[in-house]
Amino acid sequence: MKPETYNKPLFAEEIKEVFRGEIIGSDIIFLESTTSTNDKAIEIGRQSKNPEGIVVVADAQSNGRGRLGRRWISPPGCNLYFTVLLRPPLPAKELPLIVLMAAVAVVSAIRKYTGLKAEIKWPNDIMFNGKKTGGILLDMRSDAGRIDLIALGIGINVNQSLDLLPEDLRGSATSLKRETGSEVDRIRLLGEVLAELEHWYKILLSDDKTLLFNEWLRLDSTIGRKVILEGVSSSTRASGGISGIAEGIDSQGRLLVRLSSGSLKSVSAGDVTIAKNQGPSPKELR
Ligand code: BTN
Repeated sequence: MKPETYNKPLFAEEIKEVFRGEIIGSDIIFLESTTSTNDKAIEIGRQSKNPEGIVVVADAQSNGRGRLGRRWISPPGCNLYFTVLLRPPLPAKELPLIVLMAAVAVVSAIRKYTGLKAEIKWPNDIMFNGKKTGGILLDMRSDAGRIDLIALGIGINVNQSLDLLPEDLRGSATSLKRETGSEVDRIRLLGEVLAELEHWYKILLSDDKTLLFNEWLRLDSTIGRKVILEGVSSSTRASGGISGIAEGIDSQGRLLVRLSSGSLKSVSAGDVTIAKNQGPSPKELR
């Protein structure tokens, strides 16, 4: 049996052939299998003097983690599971902006590479036709209110056969292969995502983030819709459920929801369901 840290250079070399960044991809580490690329990346980051840009990719995960304590089903040979280590000079309260940036990068890459009109569902879901095809999970270490190290974990259902998913997920999940009708090259798609991350991360770190916000709004399916939010964290409430119209996001990436009382609530974390039977989205009417 190969040790967990077995590095398959051919795979990493192939990735380096399709992508070379100034920041992202400073090192690319490939593992045939690991518990979770986020956990492994944090371990690697702790031992590295300059962890920014290191990418940890695994073919399979035995303990793939999703948001809100959920599992991320991670079988071998079909999907993308990877984590990028970042050290942005941002206050910890701006963490949601990293998710926003990553969502723009992943959706842009999927659109460019497959032609599918993937969309973002705030905060971290990658959707196609209302079904989830990817997700983003951030783990952070902070020091005195500043971000010390971020593990930006990305999972994309690329060639996953839906029959292999647990029954309760089959109706709400999809894969790129399922939607395009053909096998998608994982390495080339990964190269595309890393290139988009490099592009949007630089914009996130620049003085003018307008381009990033505008692109997020263009690729998002949440704004203008009636939404139901569970597990909400907001300025006034630690947890619970609310519903209202998603009106926009603020400069820290929080979702602004207009409640039926007329008040506007800013939500920093939660699980969004877009209410059914609302007719076409405001975007479709444009
Ligand atoms: C979600 O939508 O709940 C987030 C899913 C994130 C999954 C990825 S796969 C790579 C990285 N390692 C993990 O354990 N999780 C993330």
